[in-house]
Amino acid sequence: MQDLNPLAIELNEQIRAASPEVYTLLSELGKRIYFPKGILSQSAEANEKADRFNATRAVALKDNEIMHLGVSRQLVSELSPETIYNYASVLGDTELRQAWKTHLQKANPLLAETTLSLPIVTSGMTHGFSLIAALFVNRDDTLVLPDKIWGNYRLIFQTKAGANIQTYPLFSTDKHFNISGFRKTLSETTTDKLLILLNFPHNPTGYAITRTEAQKIIEGIVACADTGCCILVMVDDAYAGLWYDAEVMQESLFGMLVGCHPNVVPVKIDGATKEEYAWGLRVGFLTFGFPEKLMPAIEGKLSGLIRANTSGVAKISQTLVLEAMKAPDYAEQKQLNYEILRARAVKVKQVTTDARYANLWEVYPSHAGYFICLCLKSGNAEKVRQTLLNEYGIGTIALSNTELRVAYSCLEEADIEDVFSVIAQVIQSQ
Ligand SMILES: Cc1ncc(COP(=O)(O)O)c(C=O)c1O
Repeated sequence: MQDLNPLAIELNEQIRAASPEVYTLLSELGKRIYFPKGILSQSAEANEKADRFNATRAVALKDNEIMHLGVSRQLVSELSPETIYNYASVLGDTELRQAWKTHLQKANPLLAETTLSLPIVTSGMTHGFSLIAALFVNRDDTLVLPDKIWGNYRLIFQTKAGANIQTYPLFSTDKHFNISGFRKTLSETTTDKLLILLNFPHNPTGYAITRTEAQKIIEGIVACADTGCCILVMVDDAYAGLWYDAEVMQESLFGMLVGCHPNVVPVKIDGATKEEYAWGLRVGFLTFGFPEKLMPAIEGKLSGLIRANTSGVAKISQTLVLEAMKAPDYAEQKQLNYEILRARAVKVKQVTTDARYANLWEVYPSHAGYFICLCLKSGNAEKVRQTLLNEYGIGTIALSNTELRVAYSCLEEADIEDVFSVIAQVIQSQ
């Protein structure tokens, strides 16, 4: 076993002193990682003091400007070369981090009263989950997930990090969030460390929870924490803001988790990916509801993990997200996209729940996000998918033998009727 670096020991001590619970949750790698006082800290010192020649940074300068190629610069001519080509800092640009925090506080009234860390910028949400896995997950740690999930969780937490996944059926028999199944899975835990991941609006079903359901989820988690178990709760808010049903809670569960119990450590994973319509820019965020004194050590740990992996998020991506958020038309343009998606959600619900399809499928409740999921009453979903694709040029996702996910976010409202009519035809012909 490798000796811990003195800087890692220092961070560990700071974490242990500020929160023994968070220290308990750290993985072996989480305990080993640190941010070296090397080139980056010497550069930072020189940035402040080197007023004649600064020969520290591993970039090239010309006439005091960052060197670049005009051929790419002309494609984004309104941005300064510095905001396109320079390295971004390891935890992300401070102005973007601040802007995202303001956005979170505005969109989540429950967060108004809480201490919220400055969000850390990640290379998309997948990178955020990978960082959390590296910091907190040891082989054989238990992760509680519903039976219907975004598949990437398995790759990150099970295949890569070696977690032991325990699932509960997402829906109760009356097709609401299965609170008793969730609580039962938590109560069966015998370890002193537990990982939970919750995702609403949900992929693949589009389900969103009500405030009452949210309250029951918190009660279940608190009951488990009362037994002495330390619990990391990851809240995947990929589709935050895309709620189309007045009955469901219109803010993140994260706000209720912050401060709910000393043993409960919540982290919010979200991003520009869906919220800002910027899938390929790869800008995500990690936000913790930790006491302020804990954050410098956690940032030290995450700086080490990021430095050793991507070393930071593309500068131009961060600039584009930040500049969009600052633009005068920002709110109006976002609202416009939201209205389009909402109209499609309403249409999809109306079409899929039509009586003529009642003998073909059951529609899982969908209130938000991008998806609707059909549970077929006959036929095989994979065969249906293949026929739709090969004979009709319609792409869908078969999640199991019976479940077919349709991303209506990619369908024009006017085409929705046709798409589901072909799906029905294919199922009937099987
Ligand atoms: C539930 C969920 N989480 C996260 C993401 C986004 O991840 P990324 O930002 O890495 O594209 C997706 C994208 O499909 C998703 O469905």
